[in-house]
Amino acid sequence: MAELLRVAALVSGGGSNLQAIIDAAAGSTIDAQVVCVGTDNPRAGGLKRAAGYGIPTFVVNYAAIINSYDPQTTPAALPADFHEEQILVRQRLLTRDLLPAQKRRFLYTRAIAEAMLLQHLSAFNPDLLVLAGFMRKLTPYFIDHFNTSPKLPRIMNIHPALLPAFPGVDGYGDTFRYGCKVGGCTVHFVDYGEDTGPIIGQRSFAIHPGDTLDDIKRRGLHQEWQLYPDCIQLYAHKRLSLGPANQVTASGATRPRTIVHIAAESE
Ligand code: GRF
Repeated sequence: MAELLRVAALVSGGGSNLQAIIDAAAGSTIDAQVVCVGTDNPRAGGLKRAAGYGIPTFVVNYAAIINSYDPQTTPAALPADFHEEQILVRQRLLTRDLLPAQKRRFLYTRAIAEAMLLQHLSAFNPDLLVLAGFMRKLTPYFIDHFNTSPKLPRIMNIHPALLPAFPGVDGYGDTFRYGCKVGGCTVHFVDYGEDTGPIIGQRSFAIHPGDTLDDIKRRGLHQEWQLYPDCIQLYAHKRLSLGPANQVTASGATRPRTIVHIAAESE
């Protein structure tokens, strides 16, 4: 049997996607094993799920790091390879209107937390990191450390909407309130923006008159539980690659974009 893909997962909440991935791995539906589960939230339900399968877990307490931020003392705790200017140029998370002090607070606290994540993760030697309801934005500090090859990113995320519609924290809520007749979910590689990375897979579902937001979330999660393992399996089988593409905007401008190509299944 070919070697199993070593998958690390980060969660913040209940972890039903994590469960779907663990189940798929246990049932050999995917050629992968979950080697560790990390969280920013010490109370994340996903931790219990992982522990129940003997999967090692770790916590990086983002809230504690952010709450203890002190502009005088925090800089001394920054990782030695954190270079503020380089991160500021690359990052696409902070809006222009933020004050420099606000930007520093965000980038410093995240770099400290992300250095801890990297340290924990490196102990498990993962091939792929899946964000499964991880509610923290990753900065270029983390992304560039983890993505060791420019050819194929190593971080995937699942988003509860059909991107590029409704990025952000409430994809199903935004879909519902907009009055969409179709909802969906997306798995994509993580880049420097919020939910902007190259799309690997999507699934959709119908929204019927009278549906509530809870109906949409339930229907969406069922799709997520199939989509995420499917995308991990594509990665495990080395069927994903990146390529350049041109996105033509409504104003006629051409924007270069990177897209995912999926190779045909080999015999
Ligand atoms: C999912 O809807 C996922 O798309 C989003 O966060 C939710 C996580 O749910 N990113 P769970 O913790 O996997 O149950």
